[in-house]
Amino acid sequence: MAKVFLSFAGGDREAALYAQSALDALGADVYCYQDVSDRDTPVNTSLSKKLANEASEADIFIMLLHNSMGGPVEADAEHRAFLRYEFDAFYQQLMSGGKQCPPVILQLPSNSPNPAVDEFAAWLAARDMAPERVPSGQDFVAKAVRAYHAFALSVETPCAFGYFDRTYVEHYIDDELIRCINTRAVFPQRFLYATALGARLWLELAGNRNGKIGKVYGAFTFGSKEPERRDPETGVRIPGLKEKVLAEIAKWPGGSELPVIVLGCGDARREATICRSLQESLPQRRLRVLLVDVSKTLIGHASRVVKETTHENTRVDFALLDFEDPRILRTILREWCARSPCLVLFLGNTLGNINELRFLDNVADALRPHDLLLIETVKDSAEPTAPQPATAAGVMNPEDPRFEFFAAPIRTFGLVPRRQQMRRTQEASLLGTLERYSYVFTSKDVETLAGSRYAGKVSDQSQIELVNIQRMVPAKLEAAAKSRFTGTFISERSYPVTASHVVTMIYCLATK
Ligand SMILES: C[S@@+](CC[C@H](N)C(=O)[O-])C[C@H]1O[C@@H](n2cnc3c(N)ncnc32)[C@H](O)[C@@H]1O
Repeated sequence: MAKVFLSFAGGDREAALYAQSALDALGADVYCYQDVSDRDTPVNTSLSKKLANEASEADIFIMLLHNSMGGPVEADAEHRAFLRYEFDAFYQQLMSGGKQCPPVILQLPSNSPNPAVDEFAAWLAARDMAPERVPSGQDFVAKAVRAYHAFALSVETPCAFGYFDRTYVEHYIDDELIRCINTRAVFPQRFLYATALGARLWLELAGNRNGKIGKVYGAFTFGSKEPERRDPETGVRIPGLKEKVLAEIAKWPGGSELPVIVLGCGDARREATICRSLQESLPQRRLRVLLVDVSKTLIGHASRVVKETTHENTRVDFALLDFEDPRILRTILREWCARSPCLVLFLGNTLGNINELRFLDNVADALRPHDLLLIETVKDSAEPTAPQPATAAGVMNPEDPRFEFFAAPIRTFGLVPRRQQMRRTQEASLLGTLERYSYVFTSKDVETLAGSRYAGKVSDQSQIELVNIQRMVPAKLEAAAKSRFTGTFISERSYPVTASHVVTMIYCLATK
């Protein structure tokens, strides 16, 4: 992951915030010594040292000069010469051949002169460097993004153990974004999570105990705490989800392994709960977990969660892959668990992120006898189905958690997405309600992109669109599963989110 050192003055906080989000969205590891959303950072000697360390370790050094900066260049004894400290730390490495990119120093126009900026410019000139003037904060963001692309295209992404697909190196995501705009194709949802920013947004949503997703996920149980269910007509007890899974595993031939494939693992918190619970009920089986996702960040996070939640002898593998590729699941089953049937977990309405029927076809094709598939999805709920008042004209509501997700890829262009340019509409889909999100580019965006590698690729009024399926209808999901799998078991669980709002999830266990 490329390390970026981002330096800015207090007056540039907004531009710096956007640049940080854009670089985040591209997968960079950004260091800002000031919290971009906070007030001034206290200054002391340890900060000066930290700055020098961070700058010397950075791959890309971006500095934005602004009139609000203070302090003379040489005043190091009073800890006020960060500009020189940080620049020097990077520059020394550059001069010794330890860096690939020259520093990017940009300066915004100002009405009043600032001797500190002039003094620093003179100090830079003695090192054959000069700040480049940029007309606006938005141009600064675009230049920062360009510097990242220039670097990222010149290096290979390292790969540890496990399966690895180059498609998810960040600049391919960016190419895919352009391809979708030009061909008017829908931008695949998976790319939203694949960037570092997308992954972070997902972790925040899933972990926020006050939000809808966090509340539902936090209340999830598997096993003893499952509420008892009875058939409303016969009064006969319906087995709980865990009971049903255990009954199916009991039919597996051979009894030494418990392979679990987590498709679209996210933070895998609930999947880890399931694994732990099964491990306790089946102590004779050795748990092996394969985490599949398009996000390196989420896989890393999930593997820690699974290791912490399950017993010590659990083996955790990963696959950075697109499970929508029809060959993937078949290959994984053949290579990763050739000797045993397995449990495939597909939780968190991920079915709504993809072409749901094509996915069901692919899985049904790939699964072998005794393999189990557990799908979780969101049921038609008490949520309002019409756009909320603020979005009456179809403009996307900034409170909508998907706003930030969708804004992330726009930021990878170096653009600052505006709410007024984002639309949200709804229509019926085969299994539920399809929501369509789009971002319409304006002539201002086209202007900002002039001179970048995207010049000429985006035109005024061109747009990028993504779709998401929500509010699945249980009967439709059940019918779709029944026509593809031999055994299906449907279960529902309701989670109160507020006094008046209950979210119901549907669980569909399918066997072949
Ligand atoms: C809605 S989140 C659910 C996460 C997790 N299963 C849970 O329930 O908390 C969807 C996850 O699937 C991943 N994902 C979406 N489409 C994918 C694809 N085509 N291939 C691999 N992973 C994908 C995303 O990166 C994300 O981590």
